[in-house]
Amino acid sequence: MPTVTYVEHNGTAHTVEAKPGRSLMQIAVDNRVSGILGDCGGSCSCATCHGYIDRKWADRLPPVSETESFMLETVPELREGSRLCCQIRMSPELDGIVVTLPEDQG
Ligand code: FES
Repeated sequence: MPTVTYVEHNGTAHTVEAKPGRSLMQIAVDNRVSGILGDCGGSCSCATCHGYIDRKWADRLPPVSETESFMLETVPELREGSRLCCQIRMSPELDGIVVTLPEDQG
């Protein structure tokens, strides 16, 4: 089974099994990872599933949609690698991906 590692703002890392097809938000919520909320259930309308993804994964991620881009404008700290985790579905190519979570969702 592929894995995802979520790193909380305080440095606490959680490596969990990630079923292909589930979103990175759903996988975090399923595993009770703190620092990611997913308030809207994955409909790209709350931005509480914000995470930072290292650029080395960039070419394996789906492109940022217009709606995701709009919602990202609302997060307190937008950085390179900012994505909404509900918009990224796990796949074998993403095995080992690391998502760092922002302080404001902690
Ligand atoms: Fe609401 Fe991702 S869960 S935007």
